Amino acid sequence: MKIPDQHIVVIFGASGDLTKRKLIPAIYQLFVNRLMPDNFAILGASRTQLTDQEFRGRMTEFLPAGDDLNSEFLNKIYYQTIDYDLNEDYIKLKDRLTGLRHALNIPANFLFYLSTPPNLYDIIPENLAFATLNNQSDGFKRLIIEKPFGNSRDSAKALNIGLLKNYEENQIYRIDHYLGKETVQNLMVTRFANGIFEPVWNRNFIGRVEVTAAESLGVEGRGGYYDHSGAMRDMVQNHLLQVVGMVAMEPPVVIEANAIRQEVMKVFQSLRPIKPGELKDYVIRGQYTSSTIKGQKVPGYREETGVDPLSHTETYVAMKFYIDNWRWAGVPFFIRTGKKLPTRVTEIVIEFKPAPHHLFDNSGFSMNKANQLIIRIQPDEGILLKFGMKEPGAGFKVNQVNMDFHYSDLTDIQLPSAYERLLLDCLMGDATLYSRGDTVEAAWNFIQPILDTWSDDPSIPVYGYPAGTWGPYESDGLLEGEKTWRYPCKNLSDDGLYCEL
Ligand code: BG6
Repeated sequence: MKIPDQHIVVIFGASGDLTKRKLIPAIYQLFVNRLMPDNFAILGASRTQLTDQEFRGRMTEFLPAGDDLNSEFLNKIYYQTIDYDLNEDYIKLKDRLTGLRHALNIPANFLFYLSTPPNLYDIIPENLAFATLNNQSDGFKRLIIEKPFGNSRDSAKALNIGLLKNYEENQIYRIDHYLGKETVQNLMVTRFANGIFEPVWNRNFIGRVEVTAAESLGVEGRGGYYDHSGAMRDMVQNHLLQVVGMVAMEPPVVIEANAIRQEVMKVFQSLRPIKPGELKDYVIRGQYTSSTIKGQKVPGYREETGVDPLSHTETYVAMKFYIDNWRWAGVPFFIRTGKKLPTRVTEIVIEFKPAPHHLFDNSGFSMNKANQLIIRIQPDEGILLKFGMKEPGAGFKVNQVNMDFHYSDLTDIQLPSAYERLLLDCLMGDATLYSRGDTVEAAWNFIQPILDTWSDDPSIPVYGYPAGTWGPYESDGLLEGEKTWRYPCKNLSDDGLYCEL
């Protein structure tokens, strides 16, 4: 197994939540799994005044207690206070890094992780460049930035232009943690490593595609951020479109970053724009209202801390669109995401067209029960195929049955967290699972006109839905005929009448 070269990871915004909840545990796991080199260090940096010891103390909360490797790992963590706006502080940072790498015998390979509010995405990289910490002549210098990559098409473009002034595109890693999910990557393997799927993966056999990313949580103290974002910017522009990209792309020539990202780019370029006049037939937005869930009163979105009590921000989006290319001509794609839905689940439903001639029409196997391939991204990761089988006994009554595979059946394999996978890839210089700048802009090109229409025409409804339900019932109107969305349960193959949520 290849492991990364010796390096130092610098985390900006190190006093924030993401660092202790996700980043440090992910690096720890890589360390435990012997995927880190012998010599590496982590330097936390933020405005808060802390010593190395104090910072280490804060990082222990999310590490397994009593683990032998714990203290060895903690000794690799250091801390530096920084004022992000002061360029002399970046010279101090450089001096600290030089001191550390000489003491620890590490080459000048630095990964800078920006776990900060997005308004620092221009200033930090620029100041790093001021301190020549973008110069790769003596080792790699990579940047990881978290979404949002701009909050509009124009700001996304401006961000890319700013970054590309001092960095090559291949030094910039835009993290979309959905691409780090094992099952999203498995989409490529399912499609391109099997002879049976790819021949039917097109408009001739697929009737529609559905992607659901439901969350049972609300805004969880992030009201201030979320109220200026909303589900379209928070989930659709990035995570959901990236998943659509993986479902819809052509086979790449090789499994390599640019080859794959080029195919995703083509999908985004083929998204049929939704015109203002047709918005109501294509996009439904909603906002959760207060309700009672399992006997507990749950506040509505407008009552959440940091949210404007008259907010029109959407916490739910359902939409229909088309990908105008050879493979997908005429196939509708339906995607939806929302907060405070009945359960947390992300899945893709590939629905096949019905058999061309209905021999068993009198049976209970109606059109609504078409063959479906369900790719479950989380939880209970796996794949489910639904198809018709003869009910035992007289006649030809057809019933729908499930054939399922659960990742958990691979008992001895622990699924790495998205951050583990993505951090390791970046340290190895592999950008396959990161978003490329032009692809991010292409996704914005599709989303921005919808956001503009919403802000130009406040009469477009934001439908209320009681917290704990599947969103506004108007979103069913997007689907044609008698079709409904698939209403998934917590467990992949539990569906139908009874389901634990
Ligand atoms: C984040 C969004 O990017 O993704 C959050 O900002 C959302 O609002 C989260 O809750 C969902 O991620 P996951 O991995 O829990 O599906």
